[in-house]
Amino acid sequence: MTKRVAILISGGGSNMVSLVESMTGNHPARPVLVMSNDPNAGGLAKARALNVPTYAVDHKPFGKDRAGFEAALQDALEKARPDIICLAGFMRILTPAFTSQWEGRMLNIHPSLLPKYKGLHTHARALEAGDKEHGCSVHEVTAELDGGPILGQAKLAIDPDDTPDTLAARLLPLEHKLYPQVLQRYAAGDRTPLFIDG
Ligand code: GAR
Repeated sequence: MTKRVAILISGGGSNMVSLVESMTGNHPARPVLVMSNDPNAGGLAKARALNVPTYAVDHKPFGKDRAGFEAALQDALEKARPDIICLAGFMRILTPAFTSQWEGRMLNIHPSLLPKYKGLHTHARALEAGDKEHGCSVHEVTAELDGGPILGQAKLAIDPDDTPDTLAARLLPLEHKLYPQVLQRYAAGDRTPLFIDG
């Protein structure tokens, strides 16, 4: 049975586009929804151009009411009936009450070689630490932020003159390579980690 995939974004959605474009032919999954917490996220228009239904739940009116925001997300997701949820540049922290509903069915891409640099500013932190390599990870989402089982990683060598911006720009194409491959394997039931050297 073809798996239904919902993709959650907050911004430009370049990872979302790479995921959507990968789900063709004999791929075991298809996109059914792209959702954002920002109604102005650039990725929403890109999803519509790719003929994927979109929906926005603006987090701002909810203020500190995370439960209310997540209930609205949950409502939209239940209508779309995804088998798999891909967080792709989704920049809101999700509470355990939400993640527990989708555990084993929700993936995230994070711009670091986890378990290093959970959270924000990953490129700057890798540079500050004097790391020789950097990368991105796709992992299952659990209650622990950026902490679930790793499903794939792609690595690159850090150049002496790299800045956080150049690192981010060099890493993004690797994210676009890694995430679709991991999703394809995951949708086919393969959870063994995939490692790519960029
Ligand atoms: C990507 O680099 C992704 O790894 C990162 O946000 C960017 C989204 O770009 N995600 C996180 O930092 C999650 N904590 P995109 O909107 O072009 O896919």
